[in-house]
Amino acid sequence: GSPQKTSGTHGAQDVVLEGLRRLEYRGYDSAGIALVAQDAVHMRKKSGKLSNLIAEIEDAPLPASLTGIGHTRWATHGGPTDVNAHPHLADNGHLALIHNGIIENFSELKAALVKEGVHFTSQTDTEVAAALLGSIYRGAGAGDLTRSMQLTAQRLEGAFTLLAVHRDHPGVVVAARRNSPLVLGLGDGENFLGSDVSGFIDFTRRAVELGQDQIVTITPEAHSITDFNGNPAEGKEFHVDWDAASAEKGGYPSFMEKEINDQPAAVADTLLGRVDAFSRLTLDEMRIDPEALKKVTKIVVLACGTSAYAGSVAKYAIENWCRIPVEVELSHEFRYRDPIVDANTLVVSISQSGETMDTLMAVRYAKEQGALTLSICNTNGSTIPRESDAVLYTHAGPEIAVASTKAFLAQITATYLLGLYLGQLRGNLFTGQIKDILADLGKIPSKIQSILDRAEEIKELARSMSDASSVLFLGRHVGYPVAMEGALKLKEIAYIHAEGFAAGELKHGPIALIDEGQPVFVVVPSPRGRDSLHSKVVSNIQEVRARGAKTLVIAEAGDQAVAEFAEFVFYVPETPTLLMPLLSTVPLQLFACELATVKGLDVDQPRNLAKSVTVE
Ligand code: G6P
Repeated sequence: GSPQKTSGTHGAQDVVLEGLRRLEYRGYDSAGIALVAQDAVHMRKKSGKLSNLIAEIEDAPLPASLTGIGHTRWATHGGPTDVNAHPHLADNGHLALIHNGIIENFSELKAALVKEGVHFTSQTDTEVAAALLGSIYRGAGAGDLTRSMQLTAQRLEGAFTLLAVHRDHPGVVVAARRNSPLVLGLGDGENFLGSDVSGFIDFTRRAVELGQDQIVTITPEAHSITDFNGNPAEGKEFHVDWDAASAEKGGYPSFMEKEINDQPAAVADTLLGRVDAFSRLTLDEMRIDPEALKKVTKIVVLACGTSAYAGSVAKYAIENWCRIPVEVELSHEFRYRDPIVDANTLVVSISQSGETMDTLMAVRYAKEQGALTLSICNTNGSTIPRESDAVLYTHAGPEIAVASTKAFLAQITATYLLGLYLGQLRGNLFTGQIKDILADLGKIPSKIQSILDRAEEIKELARSMSDASSVLFLGRHVGYPVAMEGALKLKEIAYIHAEGFAAGELKHGPIALIDEGQPVFVVVPSPRGRDSLHSKVVSNIQEVRARGAKTLVIAEAGDQAVAEFAEFVFYVPETPTLLMPLLSTVPLQLFACELATVKGLDVDQPRNLAKSVTVE
């Protein structure tokens, strides 16, 4: 979701709706607005696109107001319904609150509030935050909205940006921020808050970046920033020089580049709230009977395109951790070959959109055969999760560019969580092992960030290769699907012939393709892992190089063995082999994105492709 607000000289309704329109790319399964006017809070909210909300307001107009908040939602907890849309009301309807993020301890808080007699109407974590703020406002907060927000924020765990207005404080908006984004816009006699500057870019270019764990209160003339304890704090002022269109892309030239850069958050958010304090996976949200999962004798992963490569990575991890056989199959192949599945088969579909017809048909077929179906999906309320027995959402946020990037890393992360959960449930993994793997997973977001910080290294290579007509990608083990994905990205957006091969298969045919100057990317496994695996791939680099290939190597930091055989090396941070795809994929995405950009192609909307293919 995405909060946005104003107060001051422009009418709040128009400012909020315009801000929401600009922020709609962030999520658009429901939208809502609350205005303070005539001693009351007035709210309208509606599932579906922003246009549904606008139609609703046309039917039932809102009074003129100078203070308001609005939100477009990308559902995490609770489906995209009218009731679950934001704002949520508390304090007898006098207080309205919107929220971005995930509140991890919401069920404990909810239980306590229910005891106090609070009645909840939605399934959202946000309504819990609203109720808590309302209860604190009447109690310890003593009618001070800022103080109440500070006390509320102290009680919340997870990631959140909260914005609230109250009937008794016209001209005031209070916000809290931890982990989720929030920026302040400084106008002339009016101030604004937004998830990003695109929310208010039509009204001011003066912005203040808020820090972690801060509370901000705005009025038309002033703003004040504190920490959660009420101590004064400061934000960082900056000038916004983007035009309105690039603001929606966070200043990046394309959505794809923005989404590549969103990946640390996509992985972190997908991990969030799924592990308890004792390093135990808590995936009850999947709504699946643990006893049924214990009986599973085979897993079949179904997906198309990039999502299918996430499935291929999952096979290595799940088989290794859980000792359950995992088959990975393209949905459209599975459906039409009379596959063998039964009640002890867990069919895991992976789909960013949740609408891919090939995958939907395959899931329906698997269900008919009696299989247990689990959807790994990025789109709350979409068809595939709705028709599956269970769902595990990835929290990558909306992916706009046709070529999938952040959804891929989030999918891999989700399959790891599933694998660890199965390992925990079935006793294949000790708590200590799970704890270690989770600790390594927890470090992945900052490691991805360190790769992004060095993007220029790989972009420079891409610019030097703008006339390449064919690029090959080699990998072994988990590096094999990474090679396939690297090739797919290049085909999709740069229209360059590209093939991914299992490095061991090279000698059985593909090596005939190698001649002078043929670029070959090689994804090298960690030298710290199974040593034979590493040395085999290093041999493969030499084999293609001896035949004239230009060798472009993705290797782990500290790998001494590759440099002498490589024309170019990009080092990714150390991580256990099974987690390596979360890192080694990133330079290949950056490579394709930059190559397509220098070729002057439309990176976000490549020819002939669609984001969501809803035909078979
Ligand atoms: C389309 C898109 C791909 C995507 C595939 C699967 O072909 O162009 O980027 O990987 O569909 O999409 P899904 O939404 O099911 O993950």
